[in-house]
Amino acid sequence: MSLLEVRNLSVGIRRKNKCLPALGGIDFDIEAAEIVGLAGESGCGKTLSALSILRLLPQAAEIEGGSIIFNADIKEKGRDLLSLDEAALCRIRGRDISMIFQEPRQSLNPLIRIGAQISETLKLHGLGDGKQARAAALDMIEKLGLAEPEKIFNAYPHQISGGMCQRVMIAIAAICRPRLLIADEPSTALDQASQNQILTLLGQINRNFGASILFISHDLSLVRRFCRRFLVMYAGRIVEKGPAETLFSAPAHPYTRGLIGAIPNREHRGRPLANINGRVPSIEDRLPGCPFAPRCPQAGERCLSAFPPETDLGGGHLAHCIMAGKSHA
Ligand SMILES: Nc1ncnc2c1ncn2[C@@H]1O[C@H](COP(=O)(O)OP(=O)(O)OP(=O)(O)O)[C@@H](O)[C@H]1O
Ligand SMILES: [Mg+2]
Repeated sequence: MSLLEVRNLSVGIRRKNKCLPALGGIDFDIEAAEIVGLAGESGCGKTLSALSILRLLPQAAEIEGGSIIFNADIKEKGRDLLSLDEAALCRIRGRDISMIFQEPRQSLNPLIRIGAQISETLKLHGLGDGKQARAAALDMIEKLGLAEPEKIFNAYPHQISGGMCQRVMIAIAAICRPRLLIADEPSTALDQASQNQILTLLGQINRNFGASILFISHDLSLVRRFCRRFLVMYAGRIVEKGPAETLFSAPAHPYTRGLIGAIPNREHRGRPLANINGRVPSIEDRLPGCPFAPRCPQAGERCLSAFPPETDLGGGHLAHCIMAGKSHA
């Protein structure tokens, strides 16, 4: 039993009178205390996947099917997050499952002091009164290695740097000791030094609190550094998943090979991959069959008719490509 079991999750985006497929039935698990990467180019559906877990999808998006079982306690039957009511979800969000976003400043309230924003989460979940929440917030600021905790506690968001704002977001996300922390491109907007600090902090939260982390990034070099296992997403599908070591040494999907070959960085965001022609198809242009076929150097007739079934390559390595497991030399 995994901590989180996502099965056949489908999400559509309403456009005019149609519902276009943004996530086409994805499956993945996150184990307790595990760090899992989710990689793929811009527009592949990484954020929609994350927001589905918390049921915080944009208004235009709609969950069309599937299940997301959250096994918070091994003694109890897991709950399907897709069938919980809003009150039950509010108890889970920020407490059992929390999320940090790419733009920390946009997630913090500019009019409320940092300390109050951290302690509020505890109070909201009934995990402490004002005094206890204040002490816990200060303790968390200190644990996250922010110098002069009192000063940070009393500061407003605009008085601290972007890197510090992101660390504050991590403090808010970690204060209730969640079982799962979703980090959506947490360091993309930051300089190299801040980026390293963020990864170190997330690593500490994983080790010290036993939180699982879903680490979303379009940057495979970061995923490689930080995750033992990762998922590769393309045009609303998970096309390959497995141990990071295996995926890097023996990628079975041509898209994964392309991503590894390109190892994109911040400057490449949203641009075509250096060694794969074309772009991710928009949700209006998704055809039946393998969505990668139009860009794939090995695609044949068969790739155009249906999305390839999963090939199990052993050791938790799975790929959706008709050539998986066969020689691609
Ligand atoms: N609020 C929205 N309204 C309409 N369509 C949306 C919205 N959010 C996402 N989409 C559609 O869903 C697709 C997947 O979006 P998503 O944000 O999940 O991609 P992503 O992989 O997180 O990309 P990025 O790396 O740029 O963050 C987009 O290409 C877009 O077509
Ligand atoms: Mg995103």
